[in-house]
Amino acid sequence: MTTSNRIAMSPMLMYMAEEDGIARDLHLVHYGARILGGVGLVMTEVIAVTPEGRISSSDLGLWEDAQIAGLARIVDFAHEHGAVMGAQLAHAGRKSKSQERGLAPSAVAYEGLPVPKELSGSEIDSTVAAYGEAAARAVSAGFDCIELHVAHGYLLHEFLSPLTNQRSDDYGGSMENRARIVRRVVAEIRGAVPDSVPLFVRLSAEDLADGGLTREESTWLASQLASEGVDLFDVSSGNVVPGYAAPVYPGYQANYALDLKAQLGVKTAAMGSISSPELAEYLVSSRSADLVFIGRALLRDPNWALKAARHAGVEPHLAIPAYARATGPYERGF
Ligand SMILES: Cc1cc2nc3c(=O)[nH]c(=O)nc-3n(C[C@H](O)[C@H](O)[C@H](O)COP(=O)(O)O)c2cc1C
Repeated sequence: MTTSNRIAMSPMLMYMAEEDGIARDLHLVHYGARILGGVGLVMTEVIAVTPEGRISSSDLGLWEDAQIAGLARIVDFAHEHGAVMGAQLAHAGRKSKSQERGLAPSAVAYEGLPVPKELSGSEIDSTVAAYGEAAARAVSAGFDCIELHVAHGYLLHEFLSPLTNQRSDDYGGSMENRARIVRRVVAEIRGAVPDSVPLFVRLSAEDLADGGLTREESTWLASQLASEGVDLFDVSSGNVVPGYAAPVYPGYQANYALDLKAQLGVKTAAMGSISSPELAEYLVSSRSADLVFIGRALLRDPNWALKAARHAGVEPHLAIPAYARATGPYERGF
């Protein structure tokens, strides 16, 4: 997959879909603004693989074919204007607020939410299958890559973390067991999409809580997944328990991407409070990461990428040439 630059829009849930999970005009305009704004890779917000796997009842979905066309319209628009698009696939697990009780590895509640129902072995099997089916639908919609959400305390991360996984079957206990469902989902997606479609995994590198997932464990998992068809790791941290228990500063999570790249030689994306073009440039030019994921800065300003180019002295391609008339000597940057 070739991108026009190394700027990626970080997945950000907009809570603007309806009960049917279908992308609508608002989604086209929201993503379209960042596409016209020069972002190389536009990653969608979480897309639920099952209705029970929604974070909220306003999430997008790919649990049925009727949801393909709305997303395909956005992907087509991206392709017409030089961007590529990724679909972030997720299941909310115990953090689902779209129903009375979430589904989770164990009946351990997230603060303020009801005690979830523990998934049975056959429910695990059908959930794994749902990821593969959603990935196949994403490819039908034309997406260039898939990102599997294994971070931030949602279902797959809940299996990895001893704080949320208290199972005594093949899916709990040792790290190998806790990682089993993630590896099954990766194999399922790999079997459902062509080899040419890159698969990214968003990991929480550590839980930042006593007794939680450690960096050694997540590094071991990444090394397994890298040989099982995952092409890039987009590395975050925390959020399996409420609150973020580490200092936050510009680029505060980039060290996770850098370390994983140094240890395993894998492709990585850095993320977390990357708002200045200088920091983004440093991260990619120093080969600390292959991509930078920009989140809130792109919510504040859909034209962040165009401005970053001009700031660096590069005249960006403009989808609408008349926009060039708005780039005089006093309108060049940040
Ligand atoms: C409104 C909002 C919604 C988010 N939704 C998601 C999401 O759907 N999937 C995900 O992996 N991360 C989500 N995140 C986290 C962002 O992708 C990003 O990792 C985080 O905001 C830190 O990066 P930033 O400082 O550049 O915003 C969300 C963040 C925000 C602010």
